[in-house]
Amino acid sequence: MRAYHLEAPSLDALRVVDVPQPRPGAGEVLVRLRAASLNYVDLAVATGAFPATLPLIPVADGAGEVVETGPDVTGLAVGDRVIPHFLPDWSAGPLPTYTSRRMRGITMPGSLADYTVVPAASLVPMPQHLSFTEAATLPIAATTAWRAVRTAVVRPGSTVLLLGTGGVSLFALQFAKASGARVIITSSSNEKLERAKALGADETINYASNPDWDLRVLELTGGVGADLVVETGGAKTFARSLNAAAAEGTVFVVGFLSGDELKTSLFPIILKMLRVVGSNTGSVADLREAVRAINTARIRPVVDQVHEFDDAAGAYAMLSRAGHFGKIAITLGDRL
Ligand SMILES: NC(=O)c1ccc[n+]([C@@H]2O[C@H](COP(=O)([O-])OP(=O)(O)OC[C@H]3O[C@@H](n4cnc5c(N)ncnc54)[C@H](OP(=O)(O)O)[C@@H]3O)[C@@H](O)[C@H]2O)c1
Repeated sequence: MRAYHLEAPSLDALRVVDVPQPRPGAGEVLVRLRAASLNYVDLAVATGAFPATLPLIPVADGAGEVVETGPDVTGLAVGDRVIPHFLPDWSAGPLPTYTSRRMRGITMPGSLADYTVVPAASLVPMPQHLSFTEAATLPIAATTAWRAVRTAVVRPGSTVLLLGTGGVSLFALQFAKASGARVIITSSSNEKLERAKALGADETINYASNPDWDLRVLELTGGVGADLVVETGGAKTFARSLNAAAAEGTVFVVGFLSGDELKTSLFPIILKMLRVVGSNTGSVADLREAVRAINTARIRPVVDQVHEFDDAAGAYAMLSRAGHFGKIAITLGDRL
């Protein structure tokens, strides 16, 4: 079968190879992948910023159809359109211990291949209104955004602050609007802010031309702040996110786009009694819940660009220069 191998932690070490098609063992399923989608972590793996088991079939997220079920698999049939979850060993409930968890495209084969074998229990049925390309964007970004909105009990009247217009932020925008919240979103690009408005954002702030964006959030909320901040920015945005949060609000700590090492005052957390909650994506059950919400609210993922299999390097390059709005996908033969 066709696959990409990442042979070393460098974008130059991404090669198309011909490898044997894997076979499903007990409790496993063979999936014909139709599309893959990039997350920031895939770039971090491909550049050595996030440790991975190399050589590796990279890219965490994908979608496809069942072509063979192994022994002891029930409830799945050939032809089912499915999404393999990023963390296949975390079915539901609390996070298992770190050592027992595999990560697709990081410590086990990922989605840049014609076929993959995954545990049957890690498969979630695709939303019926989505193409394979759209469904491939769900495991990491939609699951994370779903948990953010659910953790903060976002409801009509809540204010949600989103940093930048990447994959997690735009899913959070769609879930927050479906929950009746007011959404404030930042971006370095006025054109992307216009697109965010078209998706339902209520207020926009250009963080490049307005570096005091936290103060602008306070201004827009009458001094109150946001009930939920989805903190994707990391080191350079964290202190301002604390400042922009409402008393007893939730700062959902997701990303490290501007670095992962902090030097910040604890006082905003203490004085405003903030809930600072770490995110580690979510379980298969969380993805299932996100899919249920996507089905019910008829949400369509924002797939900004679709690259052909042969142009996977172009997809990575686009992600690395933040040239996208929402998600970047790679097609492996999407038929919808
Ligand atoms: N812990 C978890 O569970 C989890 C899950 C998913 C993702 N993540 C992490 O969360 C982060 C975002 O992931 P993603 O996949 O959504 O990324 P992405 O799609 O690559 O988003 C990148 C966008 O973030 C914005 N951005 C970059 N630097 C920024 C800054 N200093 N301030 C505000 N916005 C900034 C830019 O938006 P504009 O172009 O609009 O300016 C950029 O286009 C990454 O660090 C990723 O690894 C963590």
